Amino acid sequence: MTVRGKIIHHRVLPATTCLMPTPVALVSCRGREGKNNIITIAWTGVVCSQPPLVSVAVRPGRFSFTLLEENGDFVINVPSAGSALHADLCGTLSGRDHDKFAEAGWTPIDASQVNAPIIRECPLALECRTTQRLPLGSHELFIAEVLAVQVHEELLDANGRLLVDALEPLAYCPNVKGAGQYFALAQSVGHYGFSAEHHKRV
Ligand SMILES: Cc1cc2nc3c(=O)[nH]c(=O)nc-3n(C[C@H](O)[C@H](O)[C@H](O)COP(=O)(O)O)c2cc1C
Repeated sequence: MTVRGKIIHHRVLPATTCLMPTPVALVSCRGREGKNNIITIAWTGVVCSQPPLVSVAVRPGRFSFTLLEENGDFVINVPSAGSALHADLCGTLSGRDHDKFAEAGWTPIDASQVNAPIIRECPLALECRTTQRLPLGSHELFIAEVLAVQVHEELLDANGRLLVDALEPLAYCPNVKGAGQYFALAQSVGHYGFSAEHHKRV
């Protein structure tokens, strides 16, 4: 196959879940006894707009899985790229023997609609309540309704739109082999529907 004069060869690799990029979600949850925890989740996504539903895939062995079984409320905190180190910490230590809020230097504050902590330092937070669970194999999918959204006020412009460039979301790119990498989503390359404007001009 030729693309712009260059010959492209495809190599068939073993099947892996190398879809990229994924968000880096910092899922904060609270167990029955009131224990707060944070788990880093890359396998997360939006699954429905009306009602507003999101999903997170969690391995049953995680400490957070136990907390989510006890209390299906959780918060998806969206970190800025500057929090990559702490996001990695929350994805490599277990709440069984670590207080991740304390170790990251983050502050838990109560959510407005759900019984789970928000990470105060994260710019965007989706307050979620589990509505369905789907055991899939290695992971179980928690589907949850978004009941409220909280955002740092300075990231809203005069029209109430989120300044995504300033938020600089953190993304995760798995690899086809070995460890994945974190990336900063820093550069906008268009907006929804901009292809229509482009084609009018051409
Ligand atoms: C970038 C990244 C993405 C991750 N994504 C997931 C995920 O989608 N699902 C999952 O169960 N674990 C995921 N993990 C692993 C958990 O975050 C990790 O095992 C964590 O230490 C579990 O914490 P806990 O025992 O306190 O629940 C991810 C880790 C990293 C670093």
